[in-house]
Amino acid sequence: MHRFEFKGRELYCEDVPVSKIAREAGTPFYLYSVRTFLDHYLKLKDAFKSVKPLICFSMKANSNLTILKSLVEHGSGLDIVSGGELFRAKKVGVDSQKIVFASVGKTEKEIEDAIRSKILMFNVESIPELETINTVACRLHAVQKVAIRLNPDVSPDTHDYITTGTKQNKFGIDTGTANKLFMESYRYPFIRFAGVHIHIGSQITDSKPFVKAIKRVLQFIDSVRFCGNPVEYLNIGGGLAIIYSKEKPQTAREFARVVLPLFKDYDLKKGMKLVLEPGRFISGNSGILVTKILYKKVNPTKTFMIVDAAMNDLIRPSFYGAYHEITPVVRPSGKVRTAEVDIVGPICESGDFLAKNRKMPAANIGDLLAVMSCGAYGYVMSSNYNSRPRVPEVVVKGRKFFVAKKRESYEDLVRNEKIVKEVI
Ligand code: LLP
Repeated sequence: MHRFEFKGRELYCEDVPVSKIAREAGTPFYLYSVRTFLDHYLKLKDAFKSVKPLICFSMKANSNLTILKSLVEHGSGLDIVSGGELFRAKKVGVDSQKIVFASVGKTEKEIEDAIRSKILMFNVESIPELETINTVACRLHAVQKVAIRLNPDVSPDTHDYITTGTKQNKFGIDTGTANKLFMESYRYPFIRFAGVHIHIGSQITDSKPFVKAIKRVLQFIDSVRFCGNPVEYLNIGGGLAIIYSKEKPQTAREFARVVLPLFKDYDLKKGMKLVLEPGRFISGNSGILVTKILYKKVNPTKTFMIVDAAMNDLIRPSFYGAYHEITPVVRPSGKVRTAEVDIVGPICESGDFLAKNRKMPAANIGDLLAVMSCGAYGYVMSSNYNSRPRVPEVVVKGRKFFVAKKRESYEDLVRNEKIVKEVI
C-alpha cells in the first residue's frame, strides 16, 4: 500500500494534490510520501518483532537525507556501500553501531573512515579485502567486526543484472573458502569474525530462493560453530520485491512466516542477531516521478508522447527494460479515448524511453504524468547526461510539502570544472 491515490480525478500524495506541487516545484521532479516509507519500514519491523532484528535500510535505493533521517528517527539502521554513503549516514546522525558496509571494492580510505566512525561491521567480499581491513584496523589500534558474505549459489528468478548470489556473480565468497577463513581467524588478529551475510538479488517475488539460501547459510553457520566459532550476526540481505505491475510478491508477514521457522534451533533473541537490508521494499512504492508532456508526435507507424523527464532522470526502463506504471496526474473526464504510445524523453538516444507501446488515455500537451514506483533506484541512479540538471526531490507529510533537494542549476553543472588554458 502507498499514499498516492486518486481523490476524484486528481492524484494526491498523502493529502496534497500532485498538480499543486507541480505548479510550485516545476517539472520534472521526484515526489516522496514520507508516511509510505515509514509504513513499509514498520511493516517489516512488525513482521519480525518476535526476534527484534536490526533493519538496515539499504540507502543505495534512496539516499535522500530527509528520508534517511525520518527512517533513522524510527530506529532504522543503514546499509552503506561507499564513503559517500557513510558521509550521508553520518549527516543524518544514525547510531554508527547500526551501520553495515557492503561493496566488493571498498578502498583503504573508505575502510579507514568507516573504522574511525565505529561502524558495526563490514560485509566482507574477498580475502584481499579482509587483509586490508586487518591492516587498517591494526594501524588504528582497533578490532573490527566483520561478516563474511557467502555466495550461496542460489539463483532467484529476477533480472540478470540484479542477481547476486550465484557462482557467476562477482559477489561473496564460496563456502569452502569462507569456512577456511573462519578456521584461520587467528591470522587476522584485528578482525572479529562476528557474522555471516548473504544477499542473493533484488526484486525477488517468491520466498523459495530466500529459503534455499538461508538453509545453506545455516548449514555453514552450524559447521563453523561446531569448530568453536560462534556467529553473532546473520545478515540475510535485502531483495524483497514490490508491485510495479502485476507482480504478486510476498508480503512482509508472509516472508517472516516462511523465514522465521528456519531459525527454530537458533536463539535469535540472545544467541544470534538477525540483520535485514531492505531497500526497494521500503522505498520503491514510496516515490513517483512527475513529468509534463512537451509534444505529441504522430508518425505513420507510431505515436510518441515526448515528456520533460528522460533516461537521465529515471534509467530503469532503458537499462533493465523495467516497467513503471504511468498515469495522468489529472484523469480526463467523460468518455476517454485511449491510444498506444511510446513515452519518451528529450535525450538523443532511441533508448531514452519511460514506456513503450503503452495504452494511455488521450492527453494534451502540458498535461502532467506520474511515473509510479520510482522511490527505489530512481533519483539515486540519475545523471547529468545531455547536461540536464538533476531534478528536485520533494517530500510530503500529510498536508504539507517541502523541497528536500532543489533542482540543480546550470552553474551546478560546471561547478567543479575549469577550462584548462594550458592545453588550448
Ligand atoms: N544488500 C545488498 C548487499 C545489496 O547489494 C542490495 C541491492 C540490497 C541490500 C538492497 O536490495 P533491495 O532490497 O533493494 O532489493 N538498480 C537495480 C537494483 C540494484 C540492487 C543492488 N543491490 C534496480 O533498479 O532494480
